[in-house]
Amino acid sequence: MNKVKTISCIGAGYVGGPTMAVMAYKNPHIKINVVDINEEKIRLWNSDNLDDLPVYEPGLAEIVSKVRNKNLFFSTQIEKAIDEAEMIFISVNTPTKTYGIGKGMAADLKYVELCARQIAEVAKADKIVVEKSTLPVRTASSIKRIFAEQKKDFNFSVLSNPEFLAEGTAIKDLLEADRVLIGGENGEAIQALVDIYSAWLPEERIITTNIWSSELSKLTANAFLAQRISSINAMSALCEKTGADIDQVARAIGTDSRIGPKFLKASVGFGGSCFQKDILNLVYLCRHFGLEEVADYWEQVIKMNDYQKHRFAEKMVNAMFNTVNGKKIVFYGWAFKKDTNDTRESAAIYVADKLMDEQAHIHAYDPKVNYERMLEDLSGLRTRVEEKNTELLKFETDPYEAAKDAHAIAILTEWDEFITYDWQKIYDSMKKPAFVFDGRNILDHGKLRDIGFEVSAIGKS
Ligand code: NAD
Ligand code: UDX
Repeated sequence: MNKVKTISCIGAGYVGGPTMAVMAYKNPHIKINVVDINEEKIRLWNSDNLDDLPVYEPGLAEIVSKVRNKNLFFSTQIEKAIDEAEMIFISVNTPTKTYGIGKGMAADLKYVELCARQIAEVAKADKIVVEKSTLPVRTASSIKRIFAEQKKDFNFSVLSNPEFLAEGTAIKDLLEADRVLIGGENGEAIQALVDIYSAWLPEERIITTNIWSSELSKLTANAFLAQRISSINAMSALCEKTGADIDQVARAIGTDSRIGPKFLKASVGFGGSCFQKDILNLVYLCRHFGLEEVADYWEQVIKMNDYQKHRFAEKMVNAMFNTVNGKKIVFYGWAFKKDTNDTRESAAIYVADKLMDEQAHIHAYDPKVNYERMLEDLSGLRTRVEEKNTELLKFETDPYEAAKDAHAIAILTEWDEFITYDWQKIYDSMKKPAFVFDGRNILDHGKLRDIGFEVSAIGKS
């Protein structure tokens, strides 16, 4: 097979955008079209002002500025992109279903199927179709069926190439990937994709498997990662009852080389677009195959995460004399983790919602998240009317102004800038007693207590 000269990627989101930018940067001889149905998103990807890119990721704007309109193009011309490319990545969203069979559990594959049908209709020559979206195991067989029904006299090869990047470190994760996983049956198609990645990664980091192992490995990796967080968060609750300190426990166990130090940071609970969705999907699959015990086992990871978010909000109410009615509570951070503008499933949304049920007045500040996004996140929960959300959630652009006359500050995201704030100045402007609830264990609690704060953190009594 000749080397691939043109790639298209359907879906210009948090995965499609950064992944294709890095691929284009490392393969200057390949033309890459990133297409999306969302016109506004494409307009922002093409914006002259790199601060306007729809995805915030450290290092992304620099790479985009080097390759955009050279060998990386963003557009809404999906059919043209399908027609032009020898290889097409499907990188559309696969959210949890909100209706019908599997509601609240299964992955909604309608966008993936729409892409497959569009590719099948438009294609006029051989195509390698790459599943980049995270998909339930055996989705490739459905995609293949759609192609097979077309009965065209050329070939569609389907590969699974799940993405392992984490938001906030996406560029580094792509440039220095621990591994790239390619599942498939067609050796030539696999080699074509290996060639693209080996432009910057050593071949031993490119793992090839059968297609079902590849699909399932992605769900498994996310389940294992999320399980670590739920495990450490479960221990954080016990620490709070016993006088043990969760950060000390994490350090002590993390030095065991079999456990390892990463992903042991206790927190207000994991968020993000992947962990919950992918585990629910895994649980659904297990139940589908009659594996009730396996399903229950993984479902507990989600239950523990819900518990952690609710526990944090309840602890805040309890500490503040069992009422937050009418009190000003400042949120530092709304994104689901630092260094991203993504808020999907962020713990902040659920903690805010619970406190708003108690009639608290939330004032939120995040370096990368706007008010519109926060309100959309809350309205997505459908827990109260929009006017009430606007009344109880205010937006702040200056963290010091936000703190004025506040009863409490809660850290919901671990943005580095929160650590370096002038906490004395913040304390002086707050109502007393001044509470700090550190949902990320990033602040110097001893120093805050010396200033006069009432401090409550995760996994510390
Ligand atoms: P996203 O919502 O940021 O982007 C998906 C994009 O696809 C959207 O812009 C949407 O408009 C577009 N789209 C949907 N249907 C389309 C269609 N028919 N034609 C053209 N465009 C269409 O989602 P994401 O975070 O980039 O995730 C994409 C996939 O990658 C998901 O399956 C996700 O599970 C997986 N994934 C995500 C991450 C992550 O960190 N976000 C990491 C690894 C894997
Ligand atoms: C995750 C996986 O890490 C990545 O491999 C996959 O491709 C997509 O899903 P992402 O959700 O972007 O990536 O970020 P991640 O760093 O995994 O963090 C997820 C959530 O867990 C965040 O809310 C984060 O704050 C939280 N977390 C992470 C903890 O609470 N403690 C930790 O030790 C690590």
